[in-house]
Amino acid sequence: MNPTYRVPPARVRLAHTPTPLEEYAVLRTGLWVKRDDLTGNELSGNKVRKLEFLVADALAKGADALVTAGAVQSNHARCTAAVAARFGLRCYLVLSGPATDLDWAMGNALLDRLFGATVVHVQRDEELNPRMTSLADELRAQGLTPYVIPIGGSCPLAAWGYIEGLRELKTQVDDLGLRIHRIVCAAGSCGTLIGLACGAWLENWPVRVTGISISSTLERKRGFLKRSLQDTCAYLELPFADVYAHVELYDYAGAGYAKTRREEVELIARIASCCGLVLDPVYTGKAMYGLLDLCANGTISPQENIVFLHSGGLPGLLAMGTQIKAWLPPP
Ligand SMILES: Cc1ncc(COP(=O)(O)O)c(C=O)c1O
Repeated sequence: MNPTYRVPPARVRLAHTPTPLEEYAVLRTGLWVKRDDLTGNELSGNKVRKLEFLVADALAKGADALVTAGAVQSNHARCTAAVAARFGLRCYLVLSGPATDLDWAMGNALLDRLFGATVVHVQRDEELNPRMTSLADELRAQGLTPYVIPIGGSCPLAAWGYIEGLRELKTQVDDLGLRIHRIVCAAGSCGTLIGLACGAWLENWPVRVTGISISSTLERKRGFLKRSLQDTCAYLELPFADVYAHVELYDYAGAGYAKTRREEVELIARIASCCGLVLDPVYTGKAMYGLLDLCANGTISPQENIVFLHSGGLPGLLAMGTQIKAWLPPP
C-alpha cells in the first residue's frame, strides 16, 4: 500500500468529531450506531464531512461563491448554505421539487433562507445540472468566482470525508475491542458509501460496506455507483475490483425518492419512542428499514455485528409532518 494514500488533502474543520458510537441492542443484538447526525446543529449529518474538503479546495481556488443543487429539502444544499455563511461566501442553490416548501419556508428550505442563500427553483430534477452550469456562467460574467459542488456533494475529492470518517470509526471500534462485520448507510448520490468503502480498503479493514438505496431503480443506482467508484478509485489510485468486492447495494427506495410509506413511518415512530433515536423518512428511516428487513429475511446473519451510519436528515423530517401524521400514534 502506498503510504501517501493516507495523507488527506487540505481540509477545513467543521464537523464536531469524533461523533459518538452507541450500541442499540434494543433494536438488534450487535447493532451500533455511528451518530453522524450529531456533527453539528446547523451542519448536521454526513454532508459536512465532504464539505470540509470541498470548501478547502474552493478557498484555495479563490472562490467567493458556492453553487450547488438538489431537491428543495436537500440536506446537502442546506449544509452548503451554512458553510458558505460561516466562511463569508455567497451561496446559490438550484433546487427542484414542490415550490410550496420554499413558499412556506419549511425544514431545510427555512434554514436555506436563514443562511442567506439565493435559491433558483427549477421544476424537474433533469434541469438541476444544466441550470447549475448556466448559473455559474452568469456569476462569472458578474465578476464572481463560483465554486460548483456536485449534487449531494459527491465527487472523488469529497470521498476523503468518509475516508477520514471511516478512520475515526475504526479507532472507536478498536478502542472498544469490537469485531464489526458490516457498515450500513443510506445511498443517495453514493459518496458516503464510496468514501467508507475506499476508507476500509485503505485501513485494511475487511468489513462489508452496505448501501441502502433510497431512490431510483437498483439497476440505475448500481450503474451510477460503479461509475462513481471507478472515478474515485482512479483518483486515489486504488484497485477498483478489490474495493468493489466489499460493497453491496440493496433497493429500499420504496415509494421513490422523498416519498414515504406507512411501514417506514411506523418504524421511525417505534424507534424514536423506544430509544430516543430520530430517523428521517427520506434517508435514514429507509436505510434502517432496509437493514432490519435484511436481518429479518436472513440476508444479514444474526452473528454479524453491524454499524449503522446515522447520516442526519432531521430538518427534512420536520418539513414532512402533514404528509406523515396520519401514520403516527395519536397525540
Ligand atoms: C441525511 C442524509 N443521509 C444520507 C444521504 C445520502 O448520502 P450520499 O448522497 O452520500 O449517498 C443524504 C444525501 O443527501 C442525506 O441528506
